Amino acid sequence: MTSNPTMGLAGVVAGRTSLSTVGKEGCGLTYRGYSIEDLAERSTFEEVAWLLLRGELPTSPQLTDYRTRLQSLRELPAGLKAVLEQLPETAHPMDVLRTGCSALGCLEPELATSGTFDVVDRLLATFPSMLAYWHWFQTRTMRIETHSEEDSMAGHFLHLLHGQRPSELHRQAFDASLILYAEHEFNASTFTARVVTSTLSDFYSAITGAIGTLRGPLHGGANEAAFDLINEFASPNDAERGVLERLARKDKIMGFGHRVYRDCDPRSPIIQQWAKRLADEVGDTRLYPVSERIEAVLRREKKLFPNLDFYSASAFHFLGIPTLFFTPLFVFSRTAGWGAHILEQRSENRLIRPTADYIGPEPRAFVPLEVRRTV
Ligand code: COA
Repeated sequence: MTSNPTMGLAGVVAGRTSLSTVGKEGCGLTYRGYSIEDLAERSTFEEVAWLLLRGELPTSPQLTDYRTRLQSLRELPAGLKAVLEQLPETAHPMDVLRTGCSALGCLEPELATSGTFDVVDRLLATFPSMLAYWHWFQTRTMRIETHSEEDSMAGHFLHLLHGQRPSELHRQAFDASLILYAEHEFNASTFTARVVTSTLSDFYSAITGAIGTLRGPLHGGANEAAFDLINEFASPNDAERGVLERLARKDKIMGFGHRVYRDCDPRSPIIQQWAKRLADEVGDTRLYPVSERIEAVLRREKKLFPNLDFYSASAFHFLGIPTLFFTPLFVFSRTAGWGAHILEQRSENRLIRPTADYIGPEPRAFVPLEVRRTV
């Protein structure tokens, strides 16, 4: 079968948005007009979430109130804890979040009287708590408290995960990665959220669908797969050999390439700098040099560039985060972007229902069961 130009909807304008631009000036990324470089260097994840959801950067009192509000929403209802306790240790953490989101939608459904931001704020506040609660219960049979003194998502999650306050370097590095992951126009999971929303379904259903979409290795799951690859190699030379073998087999190298960006992903150099700082801090002499060599080989052999997921993988590892949690971290952050798209879709909704080119058989006469022949 020959592929047609709209396969995968590549290049198709499927709607409009005021949230972000991706690759508009070749390599750029902006959230509501602000460059990703400025946001990653000069703001925090909570400011970015507010910006995406409310349209403008918060003032100082607004930010303080927002942090306090999110902090106050971190507790999990008893019914959700009971559900999380039933999910086995072997479950993929993305499935845990998908189930947790759906369960919360049963326990605290979105109502006609719900405030515009009620569900998205609750999800932003509880996703880190859900993952940490399930993790500690399944690995140590501990029922942890899911509140902390930390007023940032980054600090809060690292605190819950490691049972102690993170260093300022770790909090900042994680916060920067949350900013980078927060929004990316009509990517597959966001588009899913918009399709679900366009049927006038509820917020939880849209986010649950988005989590399922993000899970795949061609999308969010790439950061996990990228780490597994990097971690396989003992040295840069070993990595060069291994990657060349994979390319010869026509394998895809996870964490490289992009549907929209053609020459570079503007988020990659930012997370790469953080990965380098974290590597230096732990005295790493393997993972970071291996990553650099893989990048060099992919550029030389295929003119492919690393996307956000590639250096995020080693950055997350240096933060002491288990590999299976990498894609869930993406959920924590992207919930801000998904939420903003859901609200935007609602503000000028029309059912999203494209059509397909039919490539099946011509119309034909029905064959009764008794005369059908088995081949
Ligand atoms: N490794 C090896 N080759 C790659 C590649 C990768 N990561 N990404 C693209 N290519 C090659 C393809 O094999 C194809 O080569 P061909 O024309 O010789 O067949 C060409 O580049 C075009 O790739 P294609 O998969 O058609 O591009 P796409 O726009 O459909 O896919 C991605 C974009 C992101 C799905 C793709 O680059 C990919 O699978 N990357 C790895 C997964 C990943 O990191 N995802 C996270 C994205 S942020």
